[in-house]
Amino acid sequence: MPPGLTARASAKVNLTLAVRARRADGYHDLESLVVFAAAGDALRFVPGGAGFSLVTRGRTAGEAGPVTDNLVLKAARLLAERVPGLPGGAFTLIKRLPVAAGLGGGSSDAAAALRLLANAAGLSLDDPRLMEAARLTGSDVPVCLAPAARFMRGTGHDLGPILALPRLPALLVNPRVAVPTPAVFGGLGLAPGATRGGDPAVVVEDGSRRDRRALLPLLAASRNDLETRALALAPVIGEALALLRGDPACRLARMSGSGATVFGLYDTCRAAAAAGKAITAVRPHWWVKPTMLG
Ligand code: C5P
Repeated sequence: MPPGLTARASAKVNLTLAVRARRADGYHDLESLVVFAAAGDALRFVPGGAGFSLVTRGRTAGEAGPVTDNLVLKAARLLAERVPGLPGGAFTLIKRLPVAAGLGGGSSDAAAALRLLANAAGLSLDDPRLMEAARLTGSDVPVCLAPAARFMRGTGHDLGPILALPRLPALLVNPRVAVPTPAVFGGLGLAPGATRGGDPAVVVEDGSRRDRRALLPLLAASRNDLETRALALAPVIGEALALLRGDPACRLARMSGSGATVFGLYDTCRAAAAAGKAITAVRPHWWVKPTMLG
């Protein structure tokens, strides 16, 4: 790694995801309880020179597509347009998360780039230009700017206060199929302006914020509205969910975002790690990662 500033780009997990409406602009209004994993990518920035460059390395770098399309560069350029004198420099992205996987990896990388640039330029993380660049980079980038448990509403720009949720031992499982987000949303078949009720957003009261056993039934009463459509596009997601649900130690199994990554929640890190080993033994080519959510 070259010298410079480093930021973690944590995986984002949607514990719940309700689709509420299709807007006139084609986007969908959501309600989602979002948390972040200890697992993630890492981004390094070495200030110097004009403009930005990016090199990708790491286990999943090959899946990330051309660097010219990378959200790290998009976010950096959007911020540079708004902050006169912002230093240019070289980014190195260590890619560990699967791509187009429902874990917001690209969004988290972009948010990490904005935090690194803010640090290099002495900008406050509350500077509204950071949030503006985040919004213009993509729907999931604003929530990744200050990665913490919170409700996300609308198209991802309406962020609730940070929630003190209990830490949740978890297993992330990606069955190595990329699911394009527009195909999942498009397949919901909602007409422009149509709204959906039903499944109430999980209500996180003070007690359940601290107590994992109180939180789990609330999560179980909710769901991910994108799961059915993603399963139709990629039936292997159902296989991953079935493997998690077949283990009595798994308290809850659900898809994150628009898939294909699914997560299982466990009582202990040891149980999550054991489940990971068991899945790797039968599906050695899948991406399997025990981690902590919070
Ligand atoms: O904003 P982002 O580029 O991440 O969104 C990718 C695609 O996902 C959009 O083009 C849209 O088809 C779909 N989407 C949506 N509603 C959202 C977020 C994404 O319909 N709230």
